[in-house]
Amino acid sequence: MSAFRDDILASRVALVTGGATGLGKEIARAFGQHGARVCIASRKQENLEAACHELQSEGLDCMWVACDIREPEQVEHVVAEVMDRHGRLDIVVNNAAGNFPAPITGLSYNGFKTIVDIDLRGTYNVTKAAFEAYLKEHGGHVVNISAPFQNLGVSMQAHVAAAKAGVDSLTRTCAVEFGPYGIRVNAIAPGAMADTEGVARFADTAKKMAGGGTNPLGYVGAKRDIANAALFLASDAASYVTGQVFAVDGGAGIDMMKMRLPHE
Ligand code: COA
Repeated sequence: MSAFRDDILASRVALVTGGATGLGKEIARAFGQHGARVCIASRKQENLEAACHELQSEGLDCMWVACDIREPEQVEHVVAEVMDRHGRLDIVVNNAAGNFPAPITGLSYNGFKTIVDIDLRGTYNVTKAAFEAYLKEHGGHVVNISAPFQNLGVSMQAHVAAAKAGVDSLTRTCAVEFGPYGIRVNAIAPGAMADTEGVARFADTAKKMAGGGTNPLGYVGAKRDIANAALFLASDAASYVTGQVFAVDGGAGIDMMKMRLPHE
């Protein structure tokens, strides 16, 4: 059962990049369950078809368009398809991202560029296309998916941390420039979730970050925790919130001592 009223996104249309798998699919599901018509977009057609079929079989209104968010023309095509189908695009979730663990010494010039292109330029491309096609005339909401480590030093993630720091910066600048258009722009910095590909790939480190007693709440989060935060930010419940990067991590990021006091 949801903590939210089931029609909080009624009549809204949402685009979720990277919506065919993982966190993006859960965000698309949560939006659909709360009244939105969703479009999922990512590179792999077979993943998109499977995810769309799954969401439709749950009674949700879903469409898909394949695209590489690094390519502005492809991004504009996605936005045009959504506008053709629904005539509006109220919510953009910039969730698509690329990641692989590599030390700087093992990272080629192109490896670094690839992640900045996907995570940062991709977020810019989609936001810009949606702004031009719909948001600037009608207002709306942008939710960027950031990361929990870009304000620290973190091994094996120089490329991702740099890109996500850029996403945080873009979040704030877009919020300032787009506020007068009635557009709110926020970001979520997810902690390591138990049920995501990222945690599977970063096994030990991520499991440590994910909790299992090491965050103040004492349990490992799930994709739905992030989807709920996205739902809040995309809804009118967050009508006076913009330019913020929200950690949704069970308090792991602010827990300096990692020290637990005994409690009853
Ligand atoms: N270690 C070091 N370098 C790597 C790497 C790794 N594990 N994986 C990819 N790279 C480098 C490649 O060698 C290439 O650089 P080069 O041309 O100098 O050799 C560059 O990154 C681009 O890789 P490529 O696979 O050609 O790019 P792509 O656009 O097809 O895919 C990713 C990029 C990030 C999507 C791909 O690496 C990937 O599938 N990652 C895992 C899936 C993922 O990111 N999921 C998101 C979870 S948050």
